[in-house]
Amino acid sequence: MNLQELTTLYDFRDRVIVITGGAGVLGGEMACALVGCGANVVILDRDVALAQRLIHRFEPTASGRAIVVYGDVLKRETLEQARDVITHEFGQIDGLINAAGGNRPDATTAPDRSFFDLPEDALRFVFDLNLMGTIMPSQILGRLMAQRGEGVILNVSSMNAFRPLTRIAAYSAAKAGVSNFTQWLAVHMAQEYSPRIRVNAIAPGFFLTEQNRFLLTDQQTGALTPRGETIITHTPMQRFGTPEDLLGAVLWLLSSASAFVSGVVIPIDGGFSAYSGV
Ligand SMILES: NC(=O)c1ccc[n+]([C@@H]2O[C@H](COP(=O)([O-])OP(=O)(O)OC[C@H]3O[C@@H](n4cnc5c(N)ncnc54)[C@H](OP(=O)(O)O)[C@@H]3O)[C@@H](O)[C@H]2O)c1
Repeated sequence: MNLQELTTLYDFRDRVIVITGGAGVLGGEMACALVGCGANVVILDRDVALAQRLIHRFEPTASGRAIVVYGDVLKRETLEQARDVITHEFGQIDGLINAAGGNRPDATTAPDRSFFDLPEDALRFVFDLNLMGTIMPSQILGRLMAQRGEGVILNVSSMNAFRPLTRIAAYSAAKAGVSNFTQWLAVHMAQEYSPRIRVNAIAPGFFLTEQNRFLLTDQQTGALTPRGETIITHTPMQRFGTPEDLLGAVLWLLSSASAFVSGVVIPIDGGFSAYSGV
């Protein structure tokens, strides 16, 4: 393979990629990179006004552009409506990134909130958002891939799927579910529909975003919390990730450069998951 052939693998022209939670920090970065590689990107998020503000970040290429479509990953009918809007606009879906997800402070143990007192609705919210919020878009948009016999799904798992992190019981269990579901769906799609449908996941390490800032930095001073410091100490690369750190793996897993890769969960963590602490 020469450089031109390698580059062609990352040419996303005429490919349509849907990103749930695409208005978020990590999903937004993936959207920018994909538009830059020529893809048509659908930002599927529940706050359309917020998502629209992202659009100015994208540099439309000769072929690639981004549109915003309303969809709530926990409301099936909104996903079905989104599917209809997307197929009307672009005709097909080549890729789905399930990036909507997150944790909630009230589903997190704290000195004044024991595990025994975590409210049921907060626990259910976190389970639903991360696990059902991955499964439902995979059902509704994955069906189109099954019908065409082609497509790629990329889920977003987390470090805590390999070994649970302290304090975030529901988020850890939910992301372990996302990793398990990734393997299950990879096998199911290949065996029941087409070996040209692939399903993988990335497991980002620690990226400072709105959903974990309260755990990693002090609200007043912005200094690292003891938890934030422990994470840096256990990260051989000695830093938090930046959203751009995800892009190489994301583009690889969405492209035909990874044509023989399915059912894997790739850590992008500065070495965190490899380090025993000693
Ligand atoms: N940040 C990290 O260190 C880290 C590490 C590992 C994994 N992850 C995972 O990476 C993914 C992206 O995280 P992020 O840090 O970029 O968080 P983020 O900035 O909060 O992005 C998440 C996006 O999903 C949207 N969303 C939430 N609920 C939704 C729903 N029901 N339907 C549709 N969209 C919904 C959010 O919209 P609203 O703003 O309206 O809520 C937001 O735009 C998540 O799955 C997260 O669990 C993050």
